[in-house]
Amino acid sequence: MRRKLAAGNWKMNGTRASLGEARAIADAHPDLALDLLLCPPATLLSAAHDLLADTSVLLGAQDCHCENSGAHTGDLSAPMLADVGARAVIVGHSERRENHEETSELVRAKARAAHDAGLMAVICLGESLAQREAANTLDIIAGQLSTSVPDTATGENTVIAYEPIWAIGTGLTASTAQIGEVHDFIRARLERRFGSGVGLSIRLLYGGSVKPANAAEIFAVPNVDGALVGGASLTQADFSPIVQALEASS
Ligand code: 13P
Repeated sequence: MRRKLAAGNWKMNGTRASLGEARAIADAHPDLALDLLLCPPATLLSAAHDLLADTSVLLGAQDCHCENSGAHTGDLSAPMLADVGARAVIVGHSERRENHEETSELVRAKARAAHDAGLMAVICLGESLAQREAANTLDIIAGQLSTSVPDTATGENTVIAYEPIWAIGTGLTASTAQIGEVHDFIRARLERRFGSGVGLSIRLLYGGSVKPANAAEIFAVPNVDGALVGGASLTQADFSPIVQALEASS
């Protein structure tokens, strides 16, 4: 019922020379029965849009401001990102929450701005290692989820990415039991808040050291509709096997 989604977050990696990898990823998957989203740095969006115009790859940005325009030096608004070809934007990544002190209230405002600009918001949630060790994971996720997701969320304009902070870029992956517990919890909360129509249609991604070697077992977990991949999305050689594993999952 939910279309699977393989998303790559290039973070602060890539210059125009890297666009060849984006093209290689697109060319490796010409006829996909799932959605493929690449989120390069904003500097590459316009060129990537031109380069990938004849492919089914969707482009996304990694952050947006919560306002549409104004005196915000260095920031980019959701309408600006849509203007250069973005169809989606990641908001609330833990690296933004930590490095830029972004609160869930701000993340909600950004997601709302994305919706208003016609972009799909990929809203990220996740607990720290200390929070997990204190057995606070579900409380943290519940709070981030209820505050970060705006009332305008639908299955078309919103994706939730569960990314345990301790698994990002560390080579540590959450166990399938840990992933399943959190994804089932998020699904139940979404159904409770939005009803089963919208609640069952919002896609849930797992992120945190997803690699070719562990992708298949992660995609077999119920309520995992795809992945938000960092390091392994930078090259076609790493990302393609993950995309294939998602396609092969039932
Ligand atoms: P890694 O796949 O490099 O662990 O990054 C995950 C992530 O933060 C994606 O947004």
